Amino acid sequence: MYEKSIELLNKAVADELSAVHQYMYFHFLCDDQGYDLLAGLFKKTAIEEMMHVEKLAERILFLKGDVIMKVKDEVKPQKEVEKMLGLAAKMEQESTQEYNIWANECSANNDSASKQLFESLVADEERHFDQYDTEADNLKKFGDRYLALQSIERSKNISAGKTTE
Ligand SMILES: [Fe+2]
Ligand SMILES: [Fe+2]
Repeated sequence: MYEKSIELLNKAVADELSAVHQYMYFHFLCDDQGYDLLAGLFKKTAIEEMMHVEKLAERILFLKGDVIMKVKDEVKPQKEVEKMLGLAAKMEQESTQEYNIWANECSANNDSASKQLFESLVADEERHFDQYDTEADNLKKFGDRYLALQSIERSKNISAGKTTE
């Protein structure tokens, strides 16, 4: 009865798993360069996407479906911060568009709980987009100084005995 919802929820699982992997990878690279603010943002967002997988999986199991743990896309290698933020923002926009459409499809199939789940994800993905977009703007505005400041901040923290994440 809810086959369509289960299919859409699994497509969202694939989206979310790809986001978890991509953002974790960006986290490692930014952390390695000492860009603590960006590293922290990617890590925090990856964890939120993991929580999205959990919510989707719970709903799939409630509907007596099978959770398919397949990624939508492999991790795209990218070492330039500007392009990392661009890709992340694009991923969030795509998820937002898809989840809006899928919310309506679930509604048309009389599955309001799945519709609400997709709507709650849309709110989170829009917030993620906004955060990435803000950082991309900062980078554009301040150029390399924006990245240099993050590295300097880390050095200051280390010399002050504070640990970084
Ligand atoms: Fe998500
Ligand atoms: Fe997101």
